[in-house]
Amino acid sequence: MPVLVLPTSPFVERQLAALRTQAPDERIFTDPSSAPAAEIEALLAFRLAPGIASRLPALKFVACAGAGADHLLAATDLPAHVPIVRAVDPLQGVRMAQYVALMALRHYRDLSRFEAQQREARWDRPAPPSEQAFTVGLMGYGSNGAPVADVLSRLGFPVAVLTRTAHPIEGVSAFAGIEALPAFLAQSRILVCTLPLTAATRGLLDARAIARLPRGAYVINVSRGGVLREEDLVAAIDAGHLAGAALDVFASEPLTANSPLWRHPKILCTPHVAAEPRPEVAAAQFLDNLRRARSGLPLANVVDRVRGY
Ligand code: OXD
Repeated sequence: MPVLVLPTSPFVERQLAALRTQAPDERIFTDPSSAPAAEIEALLAFRLAPGIASRLPALKFVACAGAGADHLLAATDLPAHVPIVRAVDPLQGVRMAQYVALMALRHYRDLSRFEAQQREARWDRPAPPSEQAFTVGLMGYGSNGAPVADVLSRLGFPVAVLTRTAHPIEGVSAFAGIEALPAFLAQSRILVCTLPLTAATRGLLDARAIARLPRGAYVINVSRGGVLREEDLVAAIDAGHLAGAALDVFASEPLTANSPLWRHPKILCTPHVAAEPRPEVAAAQFLDNLRRARSGLPLANVVDRVRGY
């Protein structure tokens, strides 16, 4: 039975290429309009336009090409009995930590100041700021959040973690639940968002939440643009409340060329490159789930449709 892959972005294309290498005998279709809809057994996608899933009566599962399945969960015509699984690559969390460390250090070590000094050949040696004054507030402690906490702690920063439910995490201050959000934000000098986009997190970082951050705080968003109200972020930076932001994800992607975010002097924008699952790992997990589905075994890395991740 064939499978369908929707290569809607370059990172899904990379997974498709890996799939073809790993399973040269599988029948893989990429165009829903010419695929044998009645036979399609599994779907690999990041986004799912309406009218595709509902035409696949033999569909056993949908594999999300990324860590966050929000786009697939938003597909209203994906039947409730079809499980969604997601790619889980341990190295993705490590790379996420690399990205966050890069942005946090760039801000904390005031790199732009020294770049400007070099342009002027100026030898000024300011005292280094204390790491203790730069508590990192990390929202989310999943497979991508946990390595961020680990790496930033090792770099000397106090780390506070906000999770949905309470559980102690060694070496960090733990905050749990929405009721802890104000206290968590109030001590987050560098705020890092790794939260999935769900009904509970959409727009969570709005003007009210941002106002609770300490003056001079810096925001790093590596999960989903929809968690953060971009216009509220820009307003807080322009008002001098926030020092700036590093954004890898946006409410609407790709970020259009006319977005003011590209040109904001205190916002660093990158095109959703912080970390993706390695194509060969995602492809191997897809094939493993395909084997499981064909043998009637439980699937791996199933997304909880109610929780949203
Ligand atoms: C994602 C990913 O879900 O890149 O955005 O894994």
